[in-house]
Amino acid sequence: MNRSDCTTETDMWSDWLLHTRYAGDPDQERSLRTDLQRYADRVLDGARLVSGMTLADIGAGDGLIAFRAIERVGPSLRVHLTDISAPLLRHADALAIQRGVRGQCTFVHGSAEVLKGIDAASVDAVTTRAVLAYVPDKIAAMREFHRILRPGGRLSIAEPILRDDAFEASSLKKIVDALPQESGDQFFHLLHRWKAAQFPDTDERIAANPITNFGERDLVRFALDAGFTEVHMEFHIDVGPSGVASWEILLGTSPHPLAPTLGTILSEQFTAEERLFFEQVFRPQVEGRRLATADRTAYLTATKPQL
Ligand SMILES: C[S@@+](CC[C@H](N)C(=O)[O-])C[C@H]1O[C@@H](n2cnc3c(N)ncnc32)[C@H](O)[C@@H]1O
Repeated sequence: MNRSDCTTETDMWSDWLLHTRYAGDPDQERSLRTDLQRYADRVLDGARLVSGMTLADIGAGDGLIAFRAIERVGPSLRVHLTDISAPLLRHADALAIQRGVRGQCTFVHGSAEVLKGIDAASVDAVTTRAVLAYVPDKIAAMREFHRILRPGGRLSIAEPILRDDAFEASSLKKIVDALPQESGDQFFHLLHRWKAAQFPDTDERIAANPITNFGERDLVRFALDAGFTEVHMEFHIDVGPSGVASWEILLGTSPHPLAPTLGTILSEQFTAEERLFFEQVFRPQVEGRRLATADRTAYLTATKPQL
C-alpha cells in the first residue's frame, strides 16, 4: 500500500468498525468479538487453507479474518489485506506489527471491484465477510475474486443479508401511511422514523440501495456468472435475545456502517417530547432484556475451475 494514501486519521468505515459497532463499550466489544470469531472460523473452514498458501481477504477491516487465518495456518501463510479504507489498512498494519506477523502481510488499498496490485491467478483463496453489501457492483467484485484466484482456488464468503431489515422498515411505513390523520398514536410513527433512518423503506429504495438490493440467491448467481463451480450456499437465520446490554449501548450503536446511531436519530430527528415518549417505551424493554434481534448471514463457498 502506498502510505501517502493515508491522509486522514479516520473515516466512516474505521469509525464504525473500531467504535460505533459496540458503542465504544469494552464489555460489548468483548461479547461482539466472541461472535465475530465464530464467523471468521466458519469463513476460514470454507477456504480450506494449508501451509504455504496465499490468501486475499477483501475488505479486511481490522484484520479479523486475516489474523485468524495466520493463527490457524502459521508463519508460512501469506495474506493480502485489501480495503477501501486507508485508515483501516493503517490500523491493520499496526496490528500486524504488534502481532509479529507484518512480514506475512501485504496491504492493498482500493475497492473490491478493481483489485489492482493483486496479479491474476496469484492467490490460493479469497475470503470476504460483511463487505459485498457495501460494494455497488457486486458482479464486478465477484469477477475480480475469480481473476486473482489460481485454478482450483477457493472462495469463501459470509455476507449479512440486510434486505429483511429493510422489509421491516417498509412494513412500518405501510402501517404509518394507513393510520388515520387524527390518530394520536405516536408509537408507530417514531418506530418507523428510527428504522427508516437506518434502512431503505420503500420497494424502490430497497432495490436501489447496494446494502439491500441482493439476497443469498443473488450471491449464488453472481458466483456462477463470474465462472465459479462447486458453488455452495448456506443461509443462516438466528433470532434471539438482543446482545444490547444497556440503553446507552442502544443509543450509541448502529446496525451497519452507513446507518446513523439511534442517539443521532433521536437528537436530530425527534422533538424533546418525542424523545421522552420513545425512551419511556423502549428503555424498559432494553433494560428488561426483552429486545430480540435477527441475524441473517449467507455463507457461500465456491471453487475456480481447473484449466
Ligand atoms: C462491516 S466491515 C467488515 C470488515 C471485516 N471484513 C470483518 O469481517 O471484520 C466492512 C468493511 O468493508 C470495507 N469496504 C467498504 N466498501 C468497500 C469496497 N467497495 N471495497 C472494499 N472494501 C470495502 C470497509 O472499509 C470495512 O472494512
